[in-house]
Parts: sequence; structure tokens; C-alpha cells
Amino acid sequence: GAPVSADVSKLEPGQRMTVEWRGRPVWVVRRTPDMIERTENLDPARLADPDSQEPQQPAYITGPLRSVRPEYSVLIGICTHLGCSPLFRPEPDDVDMTAWPGGYFCPCHGSYFDLSGRVFRNVPAPLNLEVPPYRFDGDAVIVVG
Ligand code: FES
Repeated sequence: GAPVSADVSKLEPGQRMTVEWRGRPVWVVRRTPDMIERTENLDPARLADPDSQEPQQPAYITGPLRSVRPEYSVLIGICTHLGCSPLFRPEPDDVDMTAWPGGYFCPCHGSYFDLSGRVFRNVPAPLNLEVPPYRFDGDAVIVVG
């Protein structure tokens, strides 16, 4: 499939947009400094797949933010359990989970992910949400694929 471009010039801090790549939804979230801090400060002991690598993310993606630039998170919006579409729950403490830092919740079987798509322990999904290959073209365009 051909690469697809996401114009993020109008994406406000805290917002998400979706583009389609190879028939799959790709979420782009412009993270606020608070969202970045909450993600970086999350205790990795709470995560089921804290050090994901290829093929769950390209080799150039490392660290808790799982992104090329801290401000922008790019994820495939498909649950790694059985393929449902997780809900965007960016605010902390808005679901029934201890010290919830905000992220994604899959309503099908109750898997939780943080704002980098990292999956929590003791949920059905075994792996982090996938990070597709992508790059920036200037400051306002993300090219996926
Ligand atoms: Fe998401 Fe089962 S498909 S938890």
C-alpha cells in the first residue's frame, strides 16, 4: 500500500485524528506536556509489554513515548487482543482503574493501554498497540508507510 499523509497543522494539543493506512485506522494524537509527563512517569512494572520491539514498532522507535517526536503519538488503532477498536480516554482517573494515567480502553474485553499504546498487566491484550512506520515531512505533515 502507498504511504498516507496526515496534516497535523490543525491538530490541537490533546486532540486525536485518524487516517487510514492499508485499510487500518492510524491514530495521531498531539500530546500535551501533561500527557507526556504522565506517560513517562508510569511505572513500567504495571505494563505487560514494557519493551516492545519489531514488529510491534519500527526499530527507530524506543522508550516509553514510542514516538519520533514526544508531542505526537502515532498508533494503529486496533486492539492486539481480538481486533476491536479501543476508545480514546485521554484524561486521568476517568475509568475504574487505580491511578489511571489516561490512554485507551478496549470495551470488548477490557484491555487498557497508556497514551503510548502500552498495554497494562492483567488484561487480555498481550502486546502494545502497533506503531506503524512513519516520518515527519516538515513540522506539520506525518507520512505513514
Ligand atoms: Fe480488545 Fe479483546 S479485542 S480486549
